[in-house]
Amino acid sequence: MRIKEILKLKGENQTIKARGWIRSVRNSKAFSFVVLNDGSCQGTLQVVMNSDMEGYEEASSLLVGSCVEFTGELVASQGKGQNVELQAKGVHIYGKTDENYPLQKKATSLEFLREQAHLRPRTNLFGAVFRLRHQLAMATHQFFHERGFYYLNSPILTAVDAEGAGEMFNVTTFDLEKMAKGSFDKVDYSRDYFGKPTNLCVTGQLEGECFAMGMGSVYTFGPTFRAENSNTPRHLSEFWMIEPEVAFMDLEGNAELAADFVKYLISYAFDHAGDELEALQKYHQFSAKGTNEKYENHLLVLEKVKDSTFERITYSKAIEILQKSGKKFDFSPEWGVELQTEHERYLAEEFFKGPVTVTDYPKDCKAFYMKQNDDGKTVRAMDVLVPGVGEIIGGSQREEDLDKLIKRMDEMGMEKGPLWWYLDLRRFGSAPHSGFGLGFERALRYISGMKNIRDVIPFPRTPKNCDF
Ligand code: 4AD
Ligand code: MG
Repeated sequence: MRIKEILKLKGENQTIKARGWIRSVRNSKAFSFVVLNDGSCQGTLQVVMNSDMEGYEEASSLLVGSCVEFTGELVASQGKGQNVELQAKGVHIYGKTDENYPLQKKATSLEFLREQAHLRPRTNLFGAVFRLRHQLAMATHQFFHERGFYYLNSPILTAVDAEGAGEMFNVTTFDLEKMAKGSFDKVDYSRDYFGKPTNLCVTGQLEGECFAMGMGSVYTFGPTFRAENSNTPRHLSEFWMIEPEVAFMDLEGNAELAADFVKYLISYAFDHAGDELEALQKYHQFSAKGTNEKYENHLLVLEKVKDSTFERITYSKAIEILQKSGKKFDFSPEWGVELQTEHERYLAEEFFKGPVTVTDYPKDCKAFYMKQNDDGKTVRAMDVLVPGVGEIIGGSQREEDLDKLIKRMDEMGMEKGPLWWYLDLRRFGSAPHSGFGLGFERALRYISGMKNIRDVIPFPRTPKNCDF
């Protein structure tokens, strides 16, 4: 039985075994109290050892982090804070720790825990984060499955730069050391593994579009890779993205789907990770103490968003709001320039005080595939911005007109060859369609309230950092 199940029992004196890692040991003359956690839930099991228990001496001298199994009787607890406790009759020690164990009881910083990413799953905080992460992954599949979407695994190895931003990790089997020693003025990709330049995907969207144009409504949920040199609390080099793509859906429908999805995630978190949200809430409250940060009850904020309607404005309106705000930005907001994080956060945090969907961006800010508006200047793009994080969703209605799409690719100096199949979708049975990408870790940051994206992915990859 895992501790999650044990804690649901009433303590009718049944004999059970409990295994886990020791959170703390407290010794008195006749007893020892051990707090045990096994990662199955936020809760811990209190174990009481009598000094006459076999192996008491060794067990009572165990240090934090040791892995043990207790056999004993589960009884109603006399003490405060728990309904049941385990009266230990025997103990088996799986693995001890010593004083070098990095996660001692005293508070450790998140930076330090990032360096101990192999051990942080044992902490109260990261247990909460990663159980929440699990629940939101389940919520994602359930949300789309309930709506008749088909789950699609888009390829990770690809020959296209689907966002046209050139932020790709190359994939090769060339021996770079050997190449460096030779004198090459040109790389002959025909001799590489795939016979052409290849990279890790930055998105699964274009493949998603192929399937939407045959199966109607699909979604991907997979890893994506961006070699952008961004060292910020909201950028990862490897992150997970959820990308629905829907035939016959316009931007309106897209924005509605996006808002419904975010709200569903929040509701699901309340229903399935209530203990975790509460633990996170306490952590944020605790860490705001003694700082200048104003603390807002994170759970109340989410509760409100869950039942709200997301505000919707155009990019042009957003620029107007920013310019009239009287706020001093590092980058002054100007029509034609992509919104900066500080702008996104002002809009969501200060102006709308909640999620806001911004649509119709200048075409030069956005990727080649977005549907062009009649004004010749903007495209049917949408970003969902939320307080604390900024953009968590980027999406658009797609250009379904072959001529317009080709013209745009030419304008942007794009090579059409590698995308012949994408253009075929417009050549044969084209239809209006839309989709978006939700950055899973951005959404997790928002819902967990964690301040750094590196703390919501098991093993973060960022520039100059690929440990573990
Ligand atoms: O806005 P992006 O670049 O859009 C796309 O990739 C589209 N193909 C999506 C689509 O329409 N199907 O990325 C989508 C989302 C962003 O809103 C953000 O949440 C997340 O992916 N994202 C990142 N998350 C973490 N680290 C990064 N470096 C990210 N770049 C984008
Ligand atoms: Mg974007």
